[in-house]
Amino acid sequence: MKRIAVLVSGGGTNLQAIIDAIQNGSITNGKIVKVIASKQGIFALQRAKENGIAAAVISRKQFDSVEAYDRAMVEELQKDRVDLIVLAGFLSILGEQVIRAFPNRIINIHPALIPSFCGPGFYGLHVHKAALEKGVKITGATVHFVNEIVDGGAIILQKAVEVQEGDTSEILQKRVMEQAEWHILPQAIDLFCNDQILINENQVSIKR
Ligand code: GRF
Repeated sequence: MKRIAVLVSGGGTNLQAIIDAIQNGSITNGKIVKVIASKQGIFALQRAKENGIAAAVISRKQFDSVEAYDRAMVEELQKDRVDLIVLAGFLSILGEQVIRAFPNRIINIHPALIPSFCGPGFYGLHVHKAALEKGVKITGATVHFVNEIVDGGAIILQKAVEVQEGDTSEILQKRVMEQAEWHILPQAIDLFCNDQILINENQVSIKR
């Protein structure tokens, strides 16, 4: 049984998708043992509470350095003997210490088809605004491993979503979440928990 920590910063709809997938059996061999929020008062913490999942708030501004923040994060995750760390709408940047402590064991959901519309500053609605400004007809979401480059780790799964006439950033964000994020994130977690993700250099292959 793989022990999963889910890191959150917002409404927690991706966390909810993971909780639901474990409950309905589409994720096997995985258990969420901790939710870590980047700040108090976010609805993702309410979702953890409603589902009896232990939670902690580790906020970057509680610490006077990135190193101290990273150390606290590593200690929390190691204390819970976590096998997989899932960034689900998590908006803080994890430093080298965390990434080195969990090589190829941190995954992130990005609301675009990497390498499009990704990297520093591309998060939340900014991603969809850039896609609409560019006039792309297809966008989507990507699950990837986290390394020291923002959105730069090996790609695990992607799912395309159609951009429609009249889309606003909000409408497009909702469609990408509903049609892509909430499907490929639980799917990637199930693959990880069943040791089906093979990584070589920056290339991922899936053992079916
Ligand atoms: C959304 O912008 C989503 O696209 C991205 O994180 C944000 C909030 O997600 N992955 P959540 O509802 O907190 O899971």
